[in-house]
Amino acid sequence: MRESNMPEERMTGGGYNPFEDEAETTLRPKTLAEYFGQEAVKDTLSIYMQAATLRREPLDHMLLYGPPGLGKTTLAGIVAAEMGAQLRVTSGPAIERPGDLASILTGLNTGDILFVDEIHRLSRAVEEVLYPAMEDFALDIMIGKGPSARSIRMDLPHFTLIGATTRAGMLTNPLRDRFGITFRLEMYSPEQLAVILMRSARILKVEIDQGGALEIARRSRGTPRIANRMLKRVRDYAAVRAQGRITDAVAREGLDMLAVDKLGLDHIDRMILQSMIEKFGGGPVGLDTLAATTGEDTITIEDVYEPYLLQLGFIMRTPRGRIVTPLGYEHMGCPVPAQSALGQQIRLEIEEEEE
Ligand SMILES: Nc1ncnc2c1ncn2[C@@H]1O[C@H](COP(=O)(O)OP(=O)(O)OP(=O)(O)O)[C@@H](O)[C@H]1O
Ligand SMILES: [Mg+2]
Repeated sequence: MRESNMPEERMTGGGYNPFEDEAETTLRPKTLAEYFGQEAVKDTLSIYMQAATLRREPLDHMLLYGPPGLGKTTLAGIVAAEMGAQLRVTSGPAIERPGDLASILTGLNTGDILFVDEIHRLSRAVEEVLYPAMEDFALDIMIGKGPSARSIRMDLPHFTLIGATTRAGMLTNPLRDRFGITFRLEMYSPEQLAVILMRSARILKVEIDQGGALEIARRSRGTPRIANRMLKRVRDYAAVRAQGRITDAVAREGLDMLAVDKLGLDHIDRMILQSMIEKFGGGPVGLDTLAATTGEDTITIEDVYEPYLLQLGFIMRTPRGRIVTPLGYEHMGCPVPAQSALGQQIRLEIEEEEE
């Protein structure tokens, strides 16, 4: 395993990388049938879509949340296509002033879908404009200044807002309450990712077998974007070393070379676990401390690294901070201490309950 000398671009980051734009567009499913997994979301969503179509009404406003790369943007595009609606795409940080939002809203037509990515990053002033727009399809405009100022109300077409966020907890309550539908996207199982990879491989004309797909899938942190990215890197490796054919052995060798371990942990995940174990006796460690020791910011740790480490059961969140579990110790090849942080935490909880 190569720990140093890592390529600059992070292989296992779920986040969006603008250089992948073209590939993302070609691999992005266009219909609900092509959108694999997320069965619970798809079932409910298709009922809502059919009901709205029957009533000849636009769909209710919808909030999609979940870690990066799970398919929020893709799903918004599919909803627009299936509803035969125009899609207008923007993002929280792009809408700087209330006036920016007002001009977007007045440019919409009935039935249009407005997709606002990173909706948790809207400013308060912009949110204020959004409330009546979502609730009453109305825009309140202030005319004049000072004591003679008055507000007039303008009607907006019935549109559907689809908001996406990686951090539902950062949404204000009034905004969250205005969404009729909320979906949480889940991480994908390796089996599901393998199916997605087989489809991507067909599109990219890469020769891969089931074992190869599963090997890549297992290391993709439950995230289709990462799976597709790894597929492309392994394709390069296979082209040079294996006549272009990806089997499980080829996938394993290719990914080992990228310093991605067999569960998809990269050097930063390992650094997080390592420093929690070696410097902090397994925890509890606060988020700020973790950020400082790894050189990543707290938001990245919370959004990108932590969800997967939590899902694997390698760390746990406690009121006092994050702790490493025995599983985490094992994965790092470290002996589990007799006085483990997890044990102490459990004792504390039992004591608190007894009191
Ligand atoms: N259910 C799926 N089936 C097949 N491919 C998928 C699925 N979900 C996502 N993908 C693939 O993963 C890529 C990333 O998905 P998408 O851009 O929709 O993620 P996102 O949740 O919007 O991420 P971000 O939070 O970074 O905006 C897509 O280009 C697509 O190829
Ligand atoms: Mg997106």
